[in-house]
Amino acid sequence: MFKSKEDVAQEFRKQKYICNDEISTVIYLAEQMQKPVLVEGPAGVGKTSLAGVWADASGLELIRIQCYEGLDESKALYEWEYAKQLLYTQILKEKVGEVLGDCRSLKEAVEKIDKEDNAFFSEDFILPRPLLRAILSEKPVVLLVDEVDKSDPEFEAFLLEVLSDFQVSVPELGTIKARHIPRVILTSNNAREMTDALKRRCLHLFIDFPVPQQEMEIVNLKVPNITDTLASQVVNVIQKIRKVDLKKLPSISETLDWARALTILNVAALDEQTVKSTLNLFLKYEGDIKKVKSNLHNVLSSTEGKLN
Ligand SMILES: Nc1ncnc2c1ncn2[C@@H]1O[C@H](COP(=O)(O)OP(=O)(O)O)[C@@H](O)[C@H]1O
Ligand SMILES: [Mg+2]
Repeated sequence: MFKSKEDVAQEFRKQKYICNDEISTVIYLAEQMQKPVLVEGPAGVGKTSLAGVWADASGLELIRIQCYEGLDESKALYEWEYAKQLLYTQILKEKVGEVLGDCRSLKEAVEKIDKEDNAFFSEDFILPRPLLRAILSEKPVVLLVDEVDKSDPEFEAFLLEVLSDFQVSVPELGTIKARHIPRVILTSNNAREMTDALKRRCLHLFIDFPVPQQEMEIVNLKVPNITDTLASQVVNVIQKIRKVDLKKLPSISETLDWARALTILNVAALDEQTVKSTLNLFLKYEGDIKKVKSNLHNVLSSTEGKLN
């Protein structure tokens, strides 16, 4: 358990993750209050990696559910292992024969098998999916429900039920209660609005693009060979480009890609020409590249009139 929000920030930094005050506060509170965290924000700002870092910083296992359209309970919670059930009925043929004994009619045989079916619908034949694994785990875990906005509203409703009391009911086995309440992160890119009920259940965290100082720290931490000059120029240009009206603004992942590429290319300092010829490393749409290229001088000189 973290001692304070400052402790969270410090431990996360050891995992190469730079928190702003909001992030460390929400993670600290989530642990103390045993509440799930719903993290929203643009792509590439560190929502998914937050869960992994939380797990690593606490020495806990990370269990992940990647959401998509059509994801349902059987994929997230549990399935019966049909193949194993079938195999066992084959292996246990003789035993099944014994049970059926001298049944004279099919109806009688079915009734007899019916009485025995709990042998095949027991914990031996259940295949736990991530949610059930998180609930059954002997140790606390971090559960990541990634991109929950891609799942259907029915799945969200089911998830809400699980998150409200951390127990699930399997008709054949009864209610299974969590041994430990997992630390939960749900992420959303806002493909659709989450329901009020889900928001109420969770602590809410919006992660936006980082402020220059935070982005500088991330670049310095993750691109170890970069010079101070280049790091600050890269961050400065990216921050300016984020003010342009583009289809897809560059995120932290793009900043890191660009910074790494420039160090590989042995660029010591940026000039307009170098920026122009490497725009494709952080802009992913042809239209965005054209727009920035045609107006690069103005974009770069928007505040201080130079690159750094
Ligand atoms: N605050 C941060 N500190 C360090 N690295 C970060 C931070 N935020 C994002 N990153 C890096 O940016 C990349 C994208 O992060 P990711 O978690 O996949 O974003 P998202 O899930 O929001 O799309 C990863 O390589 C991650 O390590
Ligand atoms: Mg993600």
